[in-house]
Amino acid sequence: MQIRASRPRRLVVLGSTGTIGEQTLELARRNPDRVAVVGLAAGSNASRLARQAAEFTPEAVAVGNAGALPELERQRGATGGAELLAGEEGLCRLAAWPGAEIVVNAVVGAAGLRPTLAALEAGGRLGLANKESLVMAGPLVRAAAARGGSEIIPIDSEHSALWQLLQGRDPGEVHRLLLTASGGPFRTFTSEQLARVTPEQALRHPTWTMGRRITIDSATLFNKGMELIEARWLFDLPLERIEAVVHPQAVVHGLVELIDGSTLAQLSRPDMRLPIQLALSLPIRWPAADVRWHWGSGTALCFEPVDEERFPCLGIARAAGEAEGIAPAVVNAADEILVEAFLDGRISFPAIAEGLAAVLQQHDPVPDPSLVDILAADAWARRAVGEWLP
Ligand SMILES: NC(=O)c1ccc[n+]([C@@H]2O[C@H](COP(=O)([O-])OP(=O)(O)OC[C@H]3O[C@@H](n4cnc5c(N)ncnc54)[C@H](OP(=O)(O)O)[C@@H]3O)[C@@H](O)[C@H]2O)c1
Repeated sequence: MQIRASRPRRLVVLGSTGTIGEQTLELARRNPDRVAVVGLAAGSNASRLARQAAEFTPEAVAVGNAGALPELERQRGATGGAELLAGEEGLCRLAAWPGAEIVVNAVVGAAGLRPTLAALEAGGRLGLANKESLVMAGPLVRAAAARGGSEIIPIDSEHSALWQLLQGRDPGEVHRLLLTASGGPFRTFTSEQLARVTPEQALRHPTWTMGRRITIDSATLFNKGMELIEARWLFDLPLERIEAVVHPQAVVHGLVELIDGSTLAQLSRPDMRLPIQLALSLPIRWPAADVRWHWGSGTALCFEPVDEERFPCLGIARAAGEAEGIAPAVVNAADEILVEAFLDGRISFPAIAEGLAAVLQQHDPVPDPSLVDILAADAWARRAVGEWLP
């Protein structure tokens, strides 16, 4: 569907109660003449969803967890005349909502995959924060976008940076892509210190405020590994031409090295509202408040290699990406369970990498998997890691 500039763009937000979802709604609130929210979805948080529906008066509201529907129905007064939907089917219906021009998928985890495919099949624009979609099923996501004639605008600061740098560039000029990593809260910790870190420490990210899973994944650097795979499918480049580099200031978000030795960079304050707003505003840019960087303030920009001995999760994710097939879906599902186990105090921080390596090694490869194969691999990995856990 063509986006028309003359009236507000019809927006669906999946995962509207999360960190990215709330920031998307903040931008909608600031830009009522540019964006009209027509659909909202969360997992289980019916009361926050109902409050959002009361403010934005969408046409439909969905809860991914069907068990939360009775609570949403009790709050029907707040949701106005919105149609109430539930379960994965409900989320997919909302992702393909009639007349929706932009769908922001900010659902966390594997639950975001089918809504991504539904939005892409329907055409229009997908603002994709749910990196798990591309990690689990990159080729299927690309095929769905091609069939639907839809566009994917990444909502990840690094991928948004690379996307901006690559616009209008001949792919033959690109030598490699670099994604920056802040290094997380444990960048300078020794292996001995890492063995003793607590969930509370790991949840305190130095730069970004994010949901629980991505915060822990940023501390282990599994998140950066997932981002390599995400970039591989977004930009259609082999993994050996995509690298991560630690940059603690988190001002440079992505670098594109060209074949003549020139390197392009995108710099901005670490603020997710920039990539989200771009996904809403393109092909033009809107002005934004409080985003100026004070260039004269003497900030030094440092870059250092990732220490994969202390942070093995990055290499495990890359190995899964190189193996392709169901391997990325396997490590993604295993990581979801391992992160929860770490947050519950059942395993240590280094055990996340040990569990990932064990499940990746155990899995039976499936080349060119279908969606059914990928969902089966996801379910298998959750069981396998459950058996591995103490
Ligand atoms: N936060 C960031 O700065 C950032 C940056 C780049 C990329 N991302 C990516 O964006 C995604 C969201 O991250 P986040 O930090 O916003 O996570 P979050 O704060 O944990 O929010 C997750 C959202 O997903 C919803 N959800 C969970 N399970 C669901 C299900 N089965 N069906 C429907 N909705 C479900 C949650 O609803 P409930 O509230 O009801 O549980 C919530 O709205 C992740 O894939 C993450 O990797 C985030």
